[in-house]
Amino acid sequence: MADVRSIVILTGAGISAESGIDTFRDAGGLWERHRVEDVATPEGFARDPDLVLGFYDMRREALHSREPNAAHRALARLDAEWGGDLLIVTQNVDDLHERGGARRVLHMHGELKSALCTSCEMRSPWDAPMSNRPPCPVCQAPTLRPDVVWFGEMPYQMDRIYRALRGADLFVSIGTSGAVYPAAGFVRDARELGARTLELNLERSEGSHWFHESRQGKAGELVPAWVEEVLK
Ligand code: NAD
Ligand code: APR
Repeated sequence: MADVRSIVILTGAGISAESGIDTFRDAGGLWERHRVEDVATPEGFARDPDLVLGFYDMRREALHSREPNAAHRALARLDAEWGGDLLIVTQNVDDLHERGGARRVLHMHGELKSALCTSCEMRSPWDAPMSNRPPCPVCQAPTLRPDVVWFGEMPYQMDRIYRALRGADLFVSIGTSGAVYPAAGFVRDARELGARTLELNLERSEGSHWFHESRQGKAGELVPAWVEEVLK
């Protein structure tokens, strides 16, 4: 690891699975119990806002009783102890990376703890139910939506992500199925730009063949062991 100066880490729902947060496409995952087109698209929100607000109120509420796991804490240790450039790009909307102590975190799909007003387009920290149409803290209009990127919408801060990928010596993907773009394409971008690529996932993902190395196992075990290797 001596020649590694810059690391980009992509995380997905799998890193939060051992904290008791449902993933999307595993057995029993969210997309088995809810139709994506109903609760994770702008069309679904326009069609039935109460259903969508209730879905995200339920996911936000569930977060209160969830704690960061060993994988989140290991990435926070890397963030604190490793002297190189580090960016954790997460597809997750939970706040477990931050609660585990990580600082350099970028939420490309938004965050459950943030509300977006569709009238004034301002964002506000948010931790209360939206189903009863509370007033926007900025403009007072009752038009808050979850600050979460839905299917068909553009993910956040893509310029910053691609700048980080261009400078990365190492790209590590943790707990994602590689089913959703553009996140699923980051490994190819990083590899073509000269980075080494490592996957840490419970099972082989749709993109495993793009990685120089792919390790299967639980994030709670694989991530602390990998961080130990980096800090050694
Ligand atoms: P996509 O093509 O990026 O995602 C395709 C994958 O999403 C599919 O392989 C499937 O697994 C899942 N998917 C999409 N529509 C589905 C449906 N109707 N039923 C079940 N699974 C479905 O999707 P997209 O619309 O092109 O996404 C555009 C952008 O939205 C992407 O860039 C992505 O970053 C973002 N996004 C956000 C979320 C979220 O909930 N935060 C979810 C997916 C995509
Ligand atoms: N440790 C490591 N990996 C795990 C664990 C675990 N304990 N449990 C599950 N996984 C892996 C699964 O094998 C799977 O490959 O995590 C991955 C979870 O994949 P998805 O459920 O598809 O979640 P994700 O890849 O984050 O989905 C991407 O799709 O619906 C959208 O917005 C949503 O951001 C999400 C995006």
